[in-house]
Amino acid sequence: MIDLRSDTVTRPSPGMRAAMASAAVGDDVYGEDPTVRALEERTARLLGHEAGLFCASGSLCNLLGVALLVPPGAELLCDAQAHVARAEMGAHAALHGVSVRTWRGDSGVTTTGDIAGMLQPDAGPFLVSTAAVALENTHNFGGGTVQPLAHLEEVSALCRDAGVALHLDGARLWNAHVATGAPIETFGHLFDTVTVSFSKGLGAPVGSVLVASAERIARARVLRKRLGGGWRQAGILAAAALHALDHNVARLADDHAAARAFAGAVAERAPGAIGDVPTNIVVIDTGAKAARDVAAAAAARGVAVSALGEHVLRAVTHLDVTASQCAEAGVVVGELLGAPA
Ligand SMILES: Cc1ncc(COP(=O)(O)O)c(C=O)c1O
Repeated sequence: MIDLRSDTVTRPSPGMRAAMASAAVGDDVYGEDPTVRALEERTARLLGHEAGLFCASGSLCNLLGVALLVPPGAELLCDAQAHVARAEMGAHAALHGVSVRTWRGDSGVTTTGDIAGMLQPDAGPFLVSTAAVALENTHNFGGGTVQPLAHLEEVSALCRDAGVALHLDGARLWNAHVATGAPIETFGHLFDTVTVSFSKGLGAPVGSVLVASAERIARARVLRKRLGGGWRQAGILAAAALHALDHNVARLADDHAAARAFAGAVAERAPGAIGDVPTNIVVIDTGAKAARDVAAAAAARGVAVSALGEHVLRAVTHLDVTASQCAEAGVVVGELLGAPA
């Protein structure tokens, strides 16, 4: 099976497993795991923030990051297709009383003017007040879209001027960094809280880090423990993330090329099915065909892709597939889409 359902399906390499096996560890709830601390400090430094908190998932980092910025009963603004709105099981509302209001972007990107028109930091006694905005870079359901840096800078300035906080879901910020060549820190300093993941394109088995000010991270540590997310000898997992930082960032360019190879093979056989392919995620329009049927037929031919909507498929390239496998998978999907209904 050529598995293109997600970049989360990778298995740790022998080198990564060796790093995990030899990691120095301690009890992280006591703050005594040296490998966890090294990862938190390194990630915070990379993003230009004071402190970091290693968590089991990107969802947990987003949950904590947003809770630091939005008090119960206030609102978070984000894209309608944002992971925080669509794929975190309503946790922000269910657990922290956060109200979410969304804009409808184009492949996950909107204009600064649209966000400005929605900000209501002081909404008075009848409407919900805006406490924070969340952006996603790259944008998963938007198709691996890279947010233009100028837009991020404008939104950051807008929010700072309005007294509204700004969170970045940067689960795949590494991909944006490689696609644009902009240093990671260039993105980091524009936001109050940032999530980055190691378990997606970077190939670690588990883990994300939330970065923010030291005061905010101290509060996040309490919130994480409250949610049952305190962990002990997590250095075994942090070692995998550190190994990923050392070895797997620059090579994301290969995943981007493999995504283009996949998309090219689909487009040759099914013109119009594919839009832009800025990073490692390809969104495929199945036209009149049901995405679920196409995904099932592709699986029967050895290619796994995700049905994300009635007529939308998603393919994601990663460490464990080669460019030629991706091109081969693109032929299969393209043939299925190009065949008469
Ligand atoms: C953009 C984005 N943010 C957050 C997450 C959540 O990460 P996790 O699966 O580690 O909770 C994902 C997962 O795919 C994602 O795509």
